[in-house]
Amino acid sequence: MSIQTPKSSNVVWQPTPVTRLSREEKNGHKGAILWFTGLSGAGKSTLALAVEERLHEMGCHTMVLDGDNVRHGLCGDLGFSNEDREENIRRIGELAKLFLDAGIVVLTAFISPFQADRDKGRSLVDKGDFIEVYCDCSLAVCEERDVKGLYKKARDGVIKEFTGISSPYEAPANPELNVDTGSVSLEKSVEQVLEYLADKGICSKESIEATK
Ligand code: ADX
Repeated sequence: MSIQTPKSSNVVWQPTPVTRLSREEKNGHKGAILWFTGLSGAGKSTLALAVEERLHEMGCHTMVLDGDNVRHGLCGDLGFSNEDREENIRRIGELAKLFLDAGIVVLTAFISPFQADRDKGRSLVDKGDFIEVYCDCSLAVCEERDVKGLYKKARDGVIKEFTGISSPYEAPANPELNVDTGSVSLEKSVEQVLEYLADKGICSKESIEATK
């Protein structure tokens, strides 16, 4: 875990008597950060929301943080330059950590194109708490889907710095999970994520079966 040195010098860490562990005990399950990364249109939000629905049905406490939504509020002051994306992901890493401390399973759906920025998010929490889920879908398939019509605009030069077209995407070097969202069905992808969570003791195999 790494703790940043604050800019302000007169701030003292306030310990909290209600701990993450006591919150997790009350919730009846462990918290975790499920960090979905991939190109626009790869299916990050779709998968995160579908996994959340199942976890919710199982009685887990969950929260999805979605790129497009967060950019309407907390990150509404940021654009798509490399620096702004870095700041976007820094804030989301910190926010996800707060949810983790609340004993919640937080699912983040951001392109998060840079390995170094994802690694910084990972470094904020203990080993095992950060589960990087690569939504592995080729640019060709994402562009073919073009759900929001953004790829066409990017090709036409209407949108600048568009990931995959005029801005880079670094695929995860060593993700905990690689989900082939380009060709595997949503149902199967959800099961793959849930099985991983069951293996890590975050949900149970019985609850997966019971909510199928
Ligand atoms: S990130 O790179 O900083 O992680 P984030 O996930 O928050 O990006 O936002 C990506 C979403 O913003 C895309 O799904 C898309 O709908 C929209 N978007 C608008 N402009 C761009 C752009 N230039 N590059 C990528 N996504 C964009």
